[in-house]
Amino acid sequence: MSVVILYGTETGTSELVADAIADVLPADHDPSVYDMSEFAVEDLSADDFLIVVCATYGEGELPTGAAPFAEELDSVEPDLDGLRFAVFGLGDTVYDDTFNRGGEIIAEMLTKRGAVQVGEHGRHDGSSSIKPTAQAEEWAGTVVAVIEAEQVAAG
Ligand SMILES: Cc1cc2nc3c(=O)[nH]c(=O)nc-3n(C[C@H](O)[C@H](O)[C@H](O)COP(=O)(O)O)c2cc1C
Repeated sequence: MSVVILYGTETGTSELVADAIADVLPADHDPSVYDMSEFAVEDLSADDFLIVVCATYGEGELPTGAAPFAEELDSVEPDLDGLRFAVFGLGDTVYDDTFNRGGEIIAEMLTKRGAVQVGEHGRHDGSSSIKPTAQAEEWAGTVVAVIEAEQVAAG
């Protein structure tokens, strides 16, 4: 199953994280990475597994790079039945109540359209000493395990 990785960023960290995830995914998952601002919701396919990497800005809002995709999800209202996805969010606990809301907002929007979130929802904290790419690489391993277990179960 091919994996499509979308990133929504303001200052570029999420792009580095998306690339790091693509680098650790097994080659047979044929990972491809896209900026959410350049990806049309019509191109989402239940034949692919979707990974969303998304930062948080403002007061718990989406970064500029994720806004057009979110607006399209609302206006196009695609039927995402059968699409499975996982989310790795970026944020900072100094923002307290709005910590990592960006990734959660996208997850809620995809779920509303019928997609199903699987695996652990990753949340990086910019105030921690852990590098976002290192945390994401470890997280990606858990997502691969989920995808492969599902494939085995499906026969
Ligand atoms: C102006 C500003 C507002 C932010 N607001 C939030 C927020 O509400 N919640 C949160 O968890 N992180 C917030 N962050 C932290 C960013 O999401 C975090 O630094 C992230 O790693 C940036 O990723 P990017 O480089 O892909 O844009 C904010 C950062 C800035 C500079």
